[in-house]
Amino acid sequence: MMASTPFISPTLEGERIRLRAYRESDLPAFFAMHADPVVMRYGSHPPWTHVEQAREKFDSSLHDNAPDRQVCWAIADRHDDRMLGGVALFHVNAAQRLADVGYMLQRDSWGRGLAREATALALDHAFDGLGLRRVEADIDPRNLASCRLAERLGFVREGLLRERWEVAGETCDTALHGLLARDWRTAREAAGSA
Ligand SMILES: CC(C)(COP(=O)(O)OP(=O)(O)OC[C@H]1O[C@@H](n2cnc3c(N)ncnc32)[C@H](O)[C@@H]1OP(=O)(O)O)[C@@H](O)C(=O)NCCC(=O)NCCS
Repeated sequence: MMASTPFISPTLEGERIRLRAYRESDLPAFFAMHADPVVMRYGSHPPWTHVEQAREKFDSSLHDNAPDRQVCWAIADRHDDRMLGGVALFHVNAAQRLADVGYMLQRDSWGRGLAREATALALDHAFDGLGLRRVEADIDPRNLASCRLAERLGFVREGLLRERWEVAGETCDTALHGLLARDWRTAREAAGSA
């Protein structure tokens, strides 16, 4: 299934949020989220300072059938469709049935379990829709909210990659987290029968 699946971003409905493709009207919120130094504290790049940086990302890789094999969704409020954050499957490797997952929310949406709901929908798509076998999350070990979120979703912390990244002159470790399709299905069945 994987090899012929186009990298579209299907709309996926959760209880409080929906995952949907990005749209032009998301650009101001998308920029504001990436310009917030608190949101970006453990990010892969420093906070953005110019809206053109958001525009470039929008135009280059957030649309359907992006060239670099990723599926990107806006996390939107189910009631008014306002963009609250984003979640993505990226580095999708069809031959290995492997991908990375990333997630982020605007700061005023933290602490309500919304990232958990959104990432669970993305993982359903990764394993059931795309037929992946393993999903990885590359997390700075100091990012406690993200480590906790991954572990609550069933990811196993598999190892520490020392000084893996350099962001704005700071070297950062990676706590590599991995989730297998069979772990996900087992966890989902257990939650369904609880
Ligand atoms: C990581 C992030 C998406 C979590 O979003 P969220 O919706 O607040 O997460 P949740 O509400 O689902 O909470 C996740 C868990 O982390 C816990 N948590 C939240 N903040 C925490 C903190 N500072 N320290 C320890 N645990 C924390 C929550 O209590 C929850 O655990 P629980 O399910 O046992 O109650 C959000 O903090 C964020 O956008 N951060 C900036 C971007 C980022 O770092 N992305 C990840 C890059 S790897």
